[in-house]
Amino acid sequence: MKVGIVVYSQTGNTLSVAAKLGEKLRAAGHSVTIEPIKLVGERRRGARDVALAPLPNPGPYDLLVIGSPVEAFSLSSVTMKALGQIGSLEKKSVLCLITQGFPLPWLGGNRAVRQMTRLCEAKGAVVRGGAIVNWVKKSLDRRIGDAVDKLAALV
Ligand SMILES: Cc1cc2nc3c(=O)[nH]c(=O)nc-3n(C[C@H](O)[C@H](O)[C@H](O)COP(=O)(O)O)c2cc1C
Repeated sequence: MKVGIVVYSQTGNTLSVAAKLGEKLRAAGHSVTIEPIKLVGERRRGARDVALAPLPNPGPYDLLVIGSPVEAFSLSSVTMKALGQIGSLEKKSVLCLITQGFPLPWLGGNRAVRQMTRLCEAKGAVVRGGAIVNWVKKSLDRRIGDAVDKLAALV
């Protein structure tokens, strides 16, 4: 399957999980491209007034994984903006990958998955599921591995 991992990552956490997922999917025989959501210029911490660089084209992919951090108990405003502007996701399968700094999913992660799901469905996607990585030191590698396994099983 042709998989696109479209990821916004300000400090590299979400991108590092995306890279691990990409390795696993490639090892399973899929064609995987990681497509970062980029900004024009620097972003001040948490700033919402960002200019997006040209967005990845979802067209070539059978399945998309959308990756994003939580910000202020919500989906990152950058990802929201990008999903508002990205091309049609009509009939594309989508998986959600969320990372968050707090240890519990109800401190923003669950809401971010719901927001991402709604935005993708509004573009015509079929959202098959998602995973949240709580970015706290204890057992982080295991939790990243669990999220990667969960998403890979949905591909
Ligand atoms: C401005 C800002 C707001 C944040 N708000 C939250 C939050 O409400 N809940 C949470 O769990 N983590 C929050 N975080 C932590 C990030 O979600 C977490 O560090 C994430 O893994 C960062 O991903 P990235 O390295 O891919 O950008 C926030 C981080 C930033 C910079």
